[in-house]
Amino acid sequence: MLDIKVTKTTHPKEKPQDESKLGFGKQFSDHMFLMDYTAGEGWHDARIVPYGPWEMDPATTVFHYAQEIFEGMKAYRTADGKIQLFRPDCNANRFNDSADRLGMPPIPPEDFVQAVKALVDVDRDWVPHSDGASLYIRPFCIATDVGLGVHAAKHYRFAIICAPSGAYYAEGLDPVRIYVEDEYIRAAPGLTGFTKCGGNYAASIKAGELAEERGFSQVLWLDGVEKKYVEEVGSMNIMFKIDGEIYTAPCVGTVLPGVTRRSIIELLKDWGYKVHEERVAIADIMKAADEGKLEEVFGTGTAAVVSPVKELDWEGKVAHISGGHIGELTQKLYDTLTGIQWGKLPDTKGWIVPVE
Ligand SMILES: Cc1ncc(COP(=O)(O)O)c(C=O)c1O
Repeated sequence: MLDIKVTKTTHPKEKPQDESKLGFGKQFSDHMFLMDYTAGEGWHDARIVPYGPWEMDPATTVFHYAQEIFEGMKAYRTADGKIQLFRPDCNANRFNDSADRLGMPPIPPEDFVQAVKALVDVDRDWVPHSDGASLYIRPFCIATDVGLGVHAAKHYRFAIICAPSGAYYAEGLDPVRIYVEDEYIRAAPGLTGFTKCGGNYAASIKAGELAEERGFSQVLWLDGVEKKYVEEVGSMNIMFKIDGEIYTAPCVGTVLPGVTRRSIIELLKDWGYKVHEERVAIADIMKAADEGKLEEVFGTGTAAVVSPVKELDWEGKVAHISGGHIGELTQKLYDTLTGIQWGKLPDTKGWIVPVE
């Protein structure tokens, strides 16, 4: 249990008036959580302080060798004004898996969740009120040693910031076009694909930009060895409904184990679907599309919850999906998960953690 010192701001910022213009990650709430680590001493000085910049030496190791990890989660406001989190323990555990791979110290999951809850509680007025809008929560950890030697740092800072963010879909679910990346790769066995480290995203930016220039919303990554099997999308896991059954890449080191992915698999199994967590070749997906068996494709992630895909482009071939419409199962998954998250449906799975 952390002993968190709270220093409230004396200059609260003006809260966004028009929640329809929030966008994503552009403005930040009044406070942030900070905690420091020193080798031999452990984590210390847990505190909530006014949000603001902090000074760092230019030789701080994170600037040079990217020892950095993060998480992404949300706080939701229910119709009766309660504030709640969705499976924060999953984020805490994934954070520690990332920390372990990057040679960084873990944070006890209960401390991680306590810190998130404490900050959201202090900034609870920043959780948006409008339908589909939420408070995006970004916990992260950086190496703060000063010096240019390449080794695990002895000092770290853990921080949490919050950004009120707008509804991902302002006008209903919007099917997207996805470019299947056949040149660049995101992950390979033994590397950091299963972690949420900044370096994974740095290495993916160029491919994402090139795809966007060509009118695609994201890239679909293939495995890094043979460029044959589908893995995940830029910031989402991806699922395929083929002939009534669901296929998604297994989380065996090269794919981020999404909290949304895991929740959706549980729902699908409850609903009687056969879910295959196994490698699927992109060629077989395109073939299924040709044969009219590729019924639905959707991405899954905290930001969009569920994102229907209407088109996959791979090596000049195009697969059109669900006639450009939202699949029935995609819509049902979206309605169910968002229903639980915003408290419109009962939480029969024990996924909701209230911020009291
Ligand atoms: C690369 C990548 N894959 C998958 C996901 C989906 O994970 P989650 O459902 O936990 O948000 C994300 C988003 O965090 C991501 O960045």
